[in-house]
Amino acid sequence: MRVLHLSDLHLGSRGDEVGGPGLEELIERTSPELIVVSGDLANRGRREQIEQATARLRSLGPKVVAVPGNHDLPYSFPGRFSHPWREFERQWATTEPIHRSEQLLVVGLNSARPWRQQSGKLRRASLERTARLLADTPPEVFRLVFLHHHLACAPWRARKRPLSGRRNVLRRLAEGGVDLVASGHIHQSSTIERHEFDVGAGLRPLIFATAPGFGRPRPRRQGEAHGLQLYGFDEGEISVETYIWHEGELRLTGARRFPR
Ligand SMILES: [Fe+2]
Ligand SMILES: [Fe+2]
Repeated sequence: MRVLHLSDLHLGSRGDEVGGPGLEELIERTSPELIVVSGDLANRGRREQIEQATARLRSLGPKVVAVPGNHDLPYSFPGRFSHPWREFERQWATTEPIHRSEQLLVVGLNSARPWRQQSGKLRRASLERTARLLADTPPEVFRLVFLHHHLACAPWRARKRPLSGRRNVLRRLAEGGVDLVASGHIHQSSTIERHEFDVGAGLRPLIFATAPGFGRPRPRRQGEAHGLQLYGFDEGEISVETYIWHEGELRLTGARRFPR
C-alpha cells in the first residue's frame, strides 16, 4: 500500500514551478491509495491560489487530503483573524481531514495559527480527538499523521523552528501507536526514526518524514529541495522514498526501510 506525500506548492508565487515531469508516471506505476498534502498550497492564502492548487491536486487521480500551512492563511486584516480558514474550507471542507481504509488510518492536523507568522502549534482539542481516533483503531492498521510544521529539524536550515510543544506531541502520538508523521514547511527532505534520537523509547518505530517542496517559490535560493516523498506500508516494513526533480527529470534520490 502506497501513500504519496506532496507539500508546499506555494501556488501564485514568483517562482511558480509547481511539480514537474514524471509525476503521472510515478502515480501510475505505484498507484497510491491516497495523496496527502501538508500545507502551503497557496503563496498568500488568496482564493484563486487555493482554488488553482486544489484543482491541480485533484487532477492527479488518487483521492487527496490536505491540511493548511502558514501561507494558506489570509495575509490581510481582519480576515486573518475573523475567517482564517474560509478559503481553505471552501475547497476542502475541513482543515483536519481523516481517511480510513481497511489497512490505513490517516489523520490531518492543522498546525498553522493566525497569530503566528511562521511557527506552528497544535490545538489541545486536535490532539485529544486524534488520541481517541487512534485508540479506536485495530493495532494492525497503519497510522499516518500529517501536518504542515516539522517535528524533527531540517538537515540544512536553522531558521525555521519545529512545531511548538513537540515533545508533548511526540509522546501523545507514540502512545497512540502512530507509525509515521509526515510534514513539510522547510522545503527540505529528511527522515528519522524515533530510536535514532530518543533513548528508551518503546519498541514500536515512529518515523518523522519531512517532504521537499513540491513547488519552488524562490527558484534562485540554494538550500531548498524540489520533489516529493512516497511511503510504503507493507507487512513487517515501512518504507520512505524521496524523489527529486533534477534537470527536468523526477529521480529517486534515496530510500529508507524501517521494520515494523
Ligand atoms: Fe512553504
Ligand atoms: Fe510553511
